[in-house]
Amino acid sequence: MAPKTLNGRTADHEVADQFLTRWSPRAFTGEPISDATLMQLFEAARWAPSAFNLQPWRFVYARRDSEHWERLYSILIEYNRMWVSTASALAFVISDRFRRKEGEAPVPSYSHSFDAGAAWGFLALQAHHMGLAAHGMTGFDPDLAYADLGVPESDYRIEAAIAIGRPTTPQVLPEMFRAREVPSSRHPVSGFVFEGRFGD
Ligand SMILES: Cc1cc2nc3c(=O)[nH]c(=O)nc-3n(C[C@H](O)[C@H](O)[C@H](O)COP(=O)(O)O)c2cc1C
Repeated sequence: MAPKTLNGRTADHEVADQFLTRWSPRAFTGEPISDATLMQLFEAARWAPSAFNLQPWRFVYARRDSEHWERLYSILIEYNRMWVSTASALAFVISDRFRRKEGEAPVPSYSHSFDAGAAWGFLALQAHHMGLAAHGMTGFDPDLAYADLGVPESDYRIEAAIAIGRPTTPQVLPEMFRAREVPSSRHPVSGFVFEGRFGD
C-alpha cells in the first residue's frame, strides 16, 4: 500500500488519519468556548490509562472571557503570550507525585508524569475530533505557576500548559509566527524503535 499523506505529513506505516491530521496550530479564532465544550475535552482525558488506575492528572483552566484568564495567561512566557492571546481557553496539566492510600504514608509514583501525558494526549485528540485544537506548552514561569495556581509543589508537578481554540488563518498572528504555521514532520519509526535491545 502507498504511504498515506495527510496534512502535509507522510506516514511510514498505515495509521488512523487522526494521528496525521492533529497538529498544534497557534492561530485561533478567540471565539468564546463553553464550559460544556471544555468538559468534553476533560472527559477524554479522564479515560486515559494510568498506573494502578491512580488517575494522577489534574487540570486548572480559564476561559478567555472569565475573571481567571489574566492570572493564568500571565504565567506564560512572552513568546507564548504573543499567540495564546488568540486562544479561547488556557489550561495547566498537573500531576500528583504520590500514590496515596487511606491510612498509609504516600508513596512516590513512578509514572505520574507519564500518566498525565497520556491524559493530555487524549484531550488533544478529542479537541481535534471536535474541530478544535489543543497546543501544549512548557514555556511558562514555573515559580509563578505554582504560586498563582495554588499548587503545592511538594505534592504535585505542573507538567505543561495547553492553549485551546478553533484554528483559523495565520493572518491573525504576529508576523513572526505566520511562516511557522504549518504541520511538522517526524523522525522515521526505524530511528526510535528497536527490537530486543536499545539502540540496535
Ligand atoms: C510538552 C510540550 C511543550 C511544548 N511547549 C511549547 C511552547 O512552549 N511553545 C510553543 O509554541 N509550542 C510548544 N509545544 C508544541 C510543540 O512544539 C509541537 O507539539 C511539536 O513541534 C510537534 O508539532 P505538532 O504538535 O504540530 O505535531 C509544546 C508541546 C508539548 C507537547
